[in-house]
Amino acid sequence: MSVRALVVDPSAPAAVRLAEVPDPAPGPGQVLVDVSHASLNYGDLNDARSGRVPAGAVLGSDTAGVVVQAAADGTGPAVGTRVVALTSGAFAERVAIDVGALAEVPKGLDLAKAVALPVAGVAALRSLRAAGLAPDKRVLVTGASGGVGRFAVQLAARAGAHVIASVGSTARGEGLVDFGADEVLIGLEGLERAVDVVIDSVGGPQLVAAWSLLAPGGSVQSVGWTSGEPAVFPPYATVGPTKSLTSFVIEGDAGPDLAVLTELTAEGALTVEIGWQGSWDRFAEAAEALRGRRISGKAVLQVTQ
Ligand SMILES: NC(=O)c1ccc[n+]([C@@H]2O[C@H](COP(=O)([O-])OP(=O)(O)OC[C@H]3O[C@@H](n4cnc5c(N)ncnc54)[C@H](OP(=O)(O)O)[C@@H]3O)[C@@H](O)[C@H]2O)c1
Repeated sequence: MSVRALVVDPSAPAAVRLAEVPDPAPGPGQVLVDVSHASLNYGDLNDARSGRVPAGAVLGSDTAGVVVQAAADGTGPAVGTRVVALTSGAFAERVAIDVGALAEVPKGLDLAKAVALPVAGVAALRSLRAAGLAPDKRVLVTGASGGVGRFAVQLAARAGAHVIASVGSTARGEGLVDFGADEVLIGLEGLERAVDVVIDSVGGPQLVAAWSLLAPGGSVQSVGWTSGEPAVFPPYATVGPTKSLTSFVIEGDAGPDLAVLTELTAEGALTVEIGWQGSWDRFAEAAEALRGRRISGKAVLQVTQ
């Protein structure tokens, strides 16, 4: 038996093609899920080109669908439960998923929306937590128009912080005030007062500029590097009162944080903005739009039509 999946193929457009792969064989602590939706992250584009996901392997991290086989060890959700997960090899019709990597999707929340939460939502939630988010903090979010950025803006605003959203153009900043941003800036233009927290998805010169704006005791979380440019710190830029630049990566089971995010979304306290939705046959088109900075929020791939 085989299932269809999006696998890495360096010679294909966007380095990905639809292929038949063996039906997954779940381990004792895994459920089998029939996938209806997946979501595309910037990291998937990097993974397909960098060799981190090897040629022939299934790409993807964000997946959602219905449990068709419960875990043999008796843990996790029952058959028929709607779930969302952060797992490797997510872009397939059927996926075996560790029970710790998934959350049940609350009634009333569409799987198309829930599937946008794993990588981008968990990165936003955990990086804000690691930075010491608190109501009195000034929080700068770079790449605020993107997946991580739109969730970070909303979660920081919800915590009562003063939120400064940095985007590439006026058009890219649309909707961010409604999401709770107190200020929306093009780049870091006009930002003069120090900030306590930076959630940085862009890297390069913007990271250097954000560092110079960081208050003593503050924290930059280096979540991503979409600029692809080097960061060159002027001499002595890192000498002075204590403040930190911390590398960030999602590690360990995402299930508990995914449960928080799905609940917030179901309650209407967190909005999932879908900027592109279409069949997974159109992966190359979605990838090009994401890389071309034409998607506001998330791109959702429909696995079943
Ligand atoms: N460390 C982790 O665990 C983790 C988790 C999630 C994501 N990430 C990383 O975080 C980054 C953002 O991911 P995402 O999924 O949110 O991506 P996304 O949806 O594509 O958003 C990224 C944003 O970065 C900005 N950007 C893109 N290209 C740029 C360029 N050349 N120069 C300046 N800004 C640019 C864009 O904003 P404008 O068009 O408004 O400029 C875009 O909205 C990626 O590097 C991704 O790999 C890391």
